[in-house]
Amino acid sequence: CGIMGYIGFREAQTILTNGLRKLEYRGYDSAGIAVSNGDKITVCKAKGRIDVLEQQVSEVSLAGSAGIGHTRWATHGRPSDENSHPHVDETGKFSIVHNGIIENYLDIKQELIDKGVTFTSETDTEVIVHLLADLYDGDIVSTVRKVVGKIRGAFALGVMCEHEPDKLIAVRYASPLIIGVGQGENFIGSDIPAILEHTRDVYILDDGDLAILTKESVTVVDIHTNEPQARELVRVEWNKEQAEKEGFQHYMLKEIYEQPRALKSTMAGHLDEAAGKVTFPGLRLTAEELKEIDKIFIVACGTAYYAGLVGRYAIERLTQIPVDVDVASEFRYQRPLVTAKTLTIVVSQSGETADTLAALREAKRLGSKVLAITNVVGSTIAREADDVIATIAGPEIAVASTKAYTAQLMAFYLFGLYLAQEKQTIDPQEHATLIAALKNVPEQVEKVLENADDLRTFAEGIKDEKSVFFIGRGIDFAVSLEGSLKLKEISYIHSEAYAAGELKHGTLALIEEGTQVIALSTQAELHEKMISNITEVKARGAKVLGITPDSHIELHRTVDELCFIPTTAPLFTPILSVVPLQLIAYYTSLALGNDVDRPRNLAKSVTVE
Ligand code: G6P
Repeated sequence: CGIMGYIGFREAQTILTNGLRKLEYRGYDSAGIAVSNGDKITVCKAKGRIDVLEQQVSEVSLAGSAGIGHTRWATHGRPSDENSHPHVDETGKFSIVHNGIIENYLDIKQELIDKGVTFTSETDTEVIVHLLADLYDGDIVSTVRKVVGKIRGAFALGVMCEHEPDKLIAVRYASPLIIGVGQGENFIGSDIPAILEHTRDVYILDDGDLAILTKESVTVVDIHTNEPQARELVRVEWNKEQAEKEGFQHYMLKEIYEQPRALKSTMAGHLDEAAGKVTFPGLRLTAEELKEIDKIFIVACGTAYYAGLVGRYAIERLTQIPVDVDVASEFRYQRPLVTAKTLTIVVSQSGETADTLAALREAKRLGSKVLAITNVVGSTIAREADDVIATIAGPEIAVASTKAYTAQLMAFYLFGLYLAQEKQTIDPQEHATLIAALKNVPEQVEKVLENADDLRTFAEGIKDEKSVFFIGRGIDFAVSLEGSLKLKEISYIHSEAYAAGELKHGTLALIEEGTQVIALSTQAELHEKMISNITEVKARGAKVLGITPDSHIELHRTVDELCFIPTTAPLFTPILSVVPLQLIAYYTSLALGNDVDRPRNLAKSVTVE
């Protein structure tokens, strides 16, 4: 989602809607603004793009020179007028915009309902505004601090209060937020593009910062201690286009770097480490229904299909339920053996892929329950499925999917662990160990990203190859397929992924002097077998890059180059091992001068069968 705020001497309305337009890439299923004229706050919000909001704004009077605005990417609650931000309390005196997730909103919501508060939306956000009204003590800063003390999760907030119209409050807590500093006016933005046409002087807030904006001043304090915080005023030198990519050269690279955040957001609210449990508060499928399931079908296209291949390993290992994976365009016509006890999981970043949608409808027709893993909560697939697990990766712009894929893997791990817990197919101790390991994965992705320079050098070295091969066994084979797809999608170099042991049954014929092979070996029990397969290709003259978390001397000696990834539970290595492959694909495409974000012949969302 995108947040915008303004306080100054000009009409807030146009500044807010223009700013939101620049943030539309962060989500665009609904938008809204709240403007204060010093006396009263007026809100205007609507489902749809900013154009729809602008049309509505033109029909009401929203005069005033302070306000907050929001463009939404649905997480809790589908896109609708009611679920759009800003949200207001029952008296209309408090208004807020929020980006992120409130993990404990259900508990707070119940407490507030018990006190007689009426909720008007399905969002997690609405609890914040009612808490503000409930806890208001005559000082909005101290009240916001009290509210933040009660909520858990990742959030950025913009807050306005009718009793104190000369102030805007901004809070950053694990969701990005910046403050733009002008002359007699100040701005809040999720991101620099929102404010760039007004000022180039910004404060980048840190997690735990609360900023108090007036026309003339910006004060930053620590949300917990209230101590003033000195933040450096940064002069932004980016042009408009650079700013939309947060300084990254391409959306793909930006999205690769957003993965730690996307993973954290996707698991937020699902891992109860203290209780050693996985929770799915929003799931409509009951524990009873889940226990009945005797077979799972995973159906998807492209990268989402490859995520499904990893999903199969995870679910089978954890739950012992047999899992079949199929590409959506095949599923429909192969008379799938689906019964009422089958759960069909469709995976789709966009939620609009025609083949996947057709498969979903076919599965339902055959009597299966359908669970969608999707990045777009209001999408057709999300609406038609019986149940939804949302990946919270944020909008993905680059055609080659990166953060949506790793977020889909995260969704599979969470769901697999949940199923195992409910069906009691896992030892509680092992379950707790896996939860702890999964929690660490986002930080470990950051570590992998630190190797980007080495991978860039490697990529520049392979840019003129005719052909690149990826090999791996088991879960590594699934990741090899995704790595190979990434490379061919954007570099146009021919590439194949092979189950390492299968290579000798055919494709070994294509390995010649100097052929580049990328070998994934992340599973300790398979290193020996992988060494044999690597030796086979090396004997035909191949150069091999090995990717592994382990210090296995013989493996190291067998390959020509090594890329280390951090150690995690064997089941979770795909989230880490795919990142070097994404970077290799990106830098190869860059070195070749290709249009990285918009590769030829491909589209982000394919809505024809
Ligand atoms: C298109 C894109 C792929 C994507 C596939 C499935 O072919 O080019 O990158 O993986 O669709 O998209 P979905 O939105 O359903 O995940």
